[in-house]
Amino acid sequence: MTKLIVANWKLNPGTVREAKELFSGVKRGMMKLRRVSAVVCPPAPFLGALTGSDKLALGAQDLFWEPSGAYTGRVAGSMFKSSGASYAIVGHSEMRAAGDNNEIVNWKIKAALKSGLMPIVCVGEQVRDENGGYLNELKEQLDAAFAGVPKKFAGQIVIAYEPVWAIGEAAKSSDTPEGFRHQAIFIRKILAPQFGKEAALNIPILYGGSVNTKNAEGFLTEGHADGLLVGRESLRADKFIEILKIAAHV
Ligand code: PGA
Repeated sequence: MTKLIVANWKLNPGTVREAKELFSGVKRGMMKLRRVSAVVCPPAPFLGALTGSDKLALGAQDLFWEPSGAYTGRVAGSMFKSSGASYAIVGHSEMRAAGDNNEIVNWKIKAALKSGLMPIVCVGEQVRDENGGYLNELKEQLDAAFAGVPKKFAGQIVIAYEPVWAIGEAAKSSDTPEGFRHQAIFIRKILAPQFGKEAALNIPILYGGSVNTKNAEGFLTEGHADGLLVGRESLRADKFIEILKIAAHV
């Protein structure tokens, strides 16, 4: 199956020129690769300067849930869509830390689907506690995220399992492929009653959190991940291309 590798550039790079350079580096590097597709999620102002394709699509890092109105500083799904995005990251832990609760995540998922954007829904526990509380946390996030989302949208949803403790500079380590595999099974179990067993099996589940050129293969093979969500290592074209190559050859 084609692996989906998502680059979350976060608040980088600093200029439109650098964004174009990084993007064209990735484009060149993946030209000959088969069985892998990538999504680059740049800061919103750079979207118009980049041209996506089926193989290298563009995504929003977030979106606002209302389509228009007096909301200073917000960007709607339809605006992202008409600027070239076909995906939108929703519920990233950094947005949750900035105030997005489960209900807001739900509104944003619905807004993305309404605008024709595929939501990449981030879920993941704060800590992996020994008494299994993290499973409840994950279930709560998923139940709330998809409340009222009709079955017919199952094919337009991507999940990114990103344990918060494994994300970013401060993380001591990534999850393990085995840890991810268990979580992915659990996630599909939660989604099955809502979307149907078969559809839940087909929803891509990506791993995110300190993905790099060394651990990518393990998540895709042993971990059976359908793809990866990459932060820091997506900011260097050579590193990101190496990850794409790994994904194309597993
Ligand atoms: P990281 O970020 O790869 O830098 O840990 C991942 C993410 O936040 O999506």
